[in-house]
Amino acid sequence: MDPSRDNPILRFTAFWWGIGTFLIFALLLAVVWVFNRSEPTTLEDAAAKPRYETKAKIDAAQLANISAENIEAAVVTVSKQLATSKPIAVEKPEQIVPGSPTAVKMAAAPAVNTAAVDAPVADAPIDPAVIELGKASFMLCAACHGQNGEGGPIAPPLAGSDWVKGPVSNLIRIQLRGLLGPISVSGKEYNMPGGMAPLSYQTDDQIAGVLTYVRNSFGNKASAVKPEQVAALRSEVGKPQITAPELTKP
Ligand code: HEC
Repeated sequence: MDPSRDNPILRFTAFWWGIGTFLIFALLLAVVWVFNRSEPTTLEDAAAKPRYETKAKIDAAQLANISAENIEAAVVTVSKQLATSKPIAVEKPEQIVPGSPTAVKMAAAPAVNTAAVDAPVADAPIDPAVIELGKASFMLCAACHGQNGEGGPIAPPLAGSDWVKGPVSNLIRIQLRGLLGPISVSGKEYNMPGGMAPLSYQTDDQIAGVLTYVRNSFGNKASAVKPEQVAALRSEVGKPQITAPELTKP
């Protein structure tokens, strides 16, 4: 009799071969998977890595430099200095209280020489870069005077205004001091409550740019305003809001 018929192990030879082959492939697959496994990196991880490195560097540097005891000791010394030092009186133009001694002194300050600023200039082409700069700054004026200088319920128009096309010193002084009281624009009387606030915090270049822009937009055409002209009138900053009679008639 064939002994393999009675030996169950031998009877299942094909089965064992099958299992074996399966395990070999499983093993191969596992090896391939282990060696090809990529690091799980997300965009966040990648972005955070340099931050963690920087933080580690800063922590190390801080540890190496000032100890907590030193910082605590310094707090006492610095606090004493702060408690005993007198603050320096700084009165920024926008902080001058109307009617205060500083305001009275500023109002009595000698008049600026507008004639020098308004001296006629040769007709020169306008620098497009200056117009670009002015256009960006104009966003500020547009809030009250309208996107196209058309004016509105809170401010008179800049389009077609003789004040805008007229003497440069008027525009510079209006921007540096603000404007209050009745003013006639294109034959119409305006007297807005509170008037226009000074916008003197802009730089000479920005003011020159924005004024050059309004003088050459919305149908207006006039000479460019130079930063030096703005600088020449900077002493106006801090004086009370200017009124129409103080301006040079356009
Ligand atoms: C907060 C609102 C406001 C802003 C911002 C403002 N203005 Fe005015 N502006 C006024 C008002 C109000 C008047 C009229 C004041 C009055 O009634 O006396 C005026 C008047 C003027 C005038 C004279 C009248 C005319 O229409 O020609 C000029 C020029 C002027 N503004 C230019 C500017 C420029 C340039 C800017 C931006 C740098 C600017 N304004 C930003 C409110 C504003």
